[in-house]
Amino acid sequence: MAFSEAEQRAMARALELARRGPRSRNPQVGAVILSPSGDVIAEGWHRGAGTAHAEVDALSHLEGDAARGATAVVTLEPCNHTGRTGPCAAALIAAGVARVVYALDDPGDVEGGGGERLRAAGVSVESGLLAPEAAGLLASWLTARALGRPHVTVKWAQSLDGRAAAADGTSQWITGSEARADVHARRAQADAIVVGTGTLLADDPALTARDGDALFAAQPVPVVIGSAPIPAHAAVLRHPRPPLHHPTRDLTAVLDDLHDRGLHRVFVEGGPTLASAFIAAGLADRLLVYVAPTLLGGDRLALSDVGVGTISEQRRLTVESIERLGDDLLVVVAPDHAPEGGS
Ligand SMILES: NC(=O)c1ccc[n+]([C@@H]2O[C@H](COP(=O)([O-])OP(=O)(O)OC[C@H]3O[C@@H](n4cnc5c(N)ncnc54)[C@H](OP(=O)(O)O)[C@@H]3O)[C@@H](O)[C@H]2O)c1
Repeated sequence: MAFSEAEQRAMARALELARRGPRSRNPQVGAVILSPSGDVIAEGWHRGAGTAHAEVDALSHLEGDAARGATAVVTLEPCNHTGRTGPCAAALIAAGVARVVYALDDPGDVEGGGGERLRAAGVSVESGLLAPEAAGLLASWLTARALGRPHVTVKWAQSLDGRAAAADGTSQWITGSEARADVHARRAQADAIVVGTGTLLADDPALTARDGDALFAAQPVPVVIGSAPIPAHAAVLRHPRPPLHHPTRDLTAVLDDLHDRGLHRVFVEGGPTLASAFIAAGLADRLLVYVAPTLLGGDRLALSDVGVGTISEQRRLTVESIERLGDDLLVVVAPDHAPEGGS
């Protein structure tokens, strides 16, 4: 696989352009068109669902036959399907592009295959240039694409006897400072942080990602699910990002909306009712269970009904890691359906 220096520079530039696009259900993609002598003659990027794909955006800046014999350098395999915008592979062929260099294969069943279509039309096609960088940019989009919804991590803290709160509903704090700092660092990696109205009303959580007293630069969007209204004084209303409230119990609809908004990594922080609903619906891809050496007794269990009526229905999990954080343990597990490389 040989790429010219001009192609390598163009791919680095295309990745920069891709970042200008919004995160949404669609991937962030950039494109650069090079003349046969290797000069940049056009640039483009995708500005979100319903708008031109990056290659077509770049081609739209060229007049007449200007793209004839050119090389298109694109961060993702040109698509091959007629959606809202028409197949990019066909647009490149029609423009007379002689060569296409792209970073990553499109894993989609429908869109994939653009490379094949280009080859069949006699276009020289090479892939893999700066693929790790493109995969890094699109990591969470690729995971969400494989799932058809955002990747969901469900987290809770529990006593050694499996309780998530004391008899009066208080639960702050079950774990120690190291475990809580770990949670905040993981929140900062997420796009959205989700709680049920029960937790909102019981704990009045800020749902920010904090490094000590300071806020991390990256803040997840706070999301509240459930029909109860958010009280006017709720701390979440002072979050740097406006909270989303979904007055529903339809978790699939909520995830669909978050997906549309480009929120690909979702961190569910409870409480037990909502966590159980995500698990029962098969919508939890990774569980983070912080286990503290303390006993609470009582009936406020970390999980309620997860759809297990008899022992043969138990939810066996794959252990990803077990880590000691101060005196607490963090157990990271994945249900069998979970994809690799989520959040
Ligand atoms: N240890 C921990 O990690 C941890 C974490 C969080 C909370 N907690 C503790 O947990 C307690 C609150 O627990 P909780 O179970 O009441 O809170 P929750 O799970 O946060 O909220 C339950 C509410 O979520 C809404 N909801 C949305 N989608 C749902 C669905 N698919 N199925 C069922 N309900 C859905 C319902 O509200 P509507 O009725 O409004 O529709 C339901 O009443 C508090 O004591 C809190 O301190 C502990």
